[in-house]
Amino acid sequence: MGHKIAVLPGDGIGSEITEQAVRVLRALDLDLEIQTAPVGGAAYDAMEHPLPPSTLELAKKSSAVLFGAVGDWKYDSLPRELRPEQAILGLRKAMGLFANLRPAILYPQLANASSLKPEVVSGLNILIVRELTGDIYFGQPRGVREVADGPFKGERQGFDTMHYAESEVRRIAHVGFQAARKRSQKLCSVDKSNVLETSQFWRDIMIDVAREYPDVQLSHMYVDNAAMQLVRAPKEFDVIVTGNLFGDILSDEAAMLTGSIGMLPSASLNASNQGLYEPSHGSAPDIAGKNIANPLATILSAAMLLRYSLGATAQADRIEAAVQAVLELGLRTADIFEAGTRKVSTSEMGDAVLKALK
Ligand code: IPM
Ligand code: MN
Repeated sequence: MGHKIAVLPGDGIGSEITEQAVRVLRALDLDLEIQTAPVGGAAYDAMEHPLPPSTLELAKKSSAVLFGAVGDWKYDSLPRELRPEQAILGLRKAMGLFANLRPAILYPQLANASSLKPEVVSGLNILIVRELTGDIYFGQPRGVREVADGPFKGERQGFDTMHYAESEVRRIAHVGFQAARKRSQKLCSVDKSNVLETSQFWRDIMIDVAREYPDVQLSHMYVDNAAMQLVRAPKEFDVIVTGNLFGDILSDEAAMLTGSIGMLPSASLNASNQGLYEPSHGSAPDIAGKNIANPLATILSAAMLLRYSLGATAQADRIEAAVQAVLELGLRTADIFEAGTRKVSTSEMGDAVLKALK
């Protein structure tokens, strides 16, 4: 029996981009059992829930999930628990996908796409390791309550709770150090320990775990400074490890440095290397159904899927080489199109990657 892969296309451009990635997966000689299920707004429309139990079951029993994107403004007025975003948060939590790997790579062929000067970003290749199942994203209690005391007594107050358990910090620290070990032996932990107790605790644990990795050089940076350094001198970074909220923000910033968010894959892994793989971009409802979205981030996510969850390194390498090859040929979807290149549709880009695989 083959490896079970769940494909959850989701909303907006999700079905167009996952379709191309599935074509690529099927073109490799691997024994894959691919099943598709609804998620996000599409699942809400069809089954009244963004993460129907049948979709969650399928995801849980699969070796890996290939996820498109979720979200559309038309669901903004739904109660929070029924909004499309709950699908991805629910999958992360239910599958224990605590380690989010977000590479930000500037492809040499796309050097002019960045809004930063070419010399600042050329050759950029950083990896953000974001903790994904803790922090203020999931901390309890949260909600709206009446203020009991102080200057705002009697008013309503919105609140969330930020916390990290020691084992949560330790396990993401190990992911960060191990990634750094495979790259340039540099790990930068980003926190806000000048203000937050949670962050001071995070930093203390990072320092403790570092003793197991004497070959890796650990540094620390406050998140505000990290946001600044990322645009000032991004190539000073190699691997960044950070919490859920800071990682959310910094990974969008890092993605934009490359100027081509349509190119960036991501992986979310649990302790048994079961993973969810998705493009770093969103559902782009404004261009949905037009066959113009860039499928490369999803195709590269499929490569990460093969590498991390299936251990199919050679096939992952083949996909990545094929993507490089189509860029080299000058093929570009609208988001990365520039003078002197050839504009192609979503499906034509898929065709080109398939051809380059051969
Ligand atoms: C991301 C997204 C999600 C997050 C949203 C959609 C819940 O922004 O994957 O970065 O905040 O984690
Ligand atoms: Mn985000």
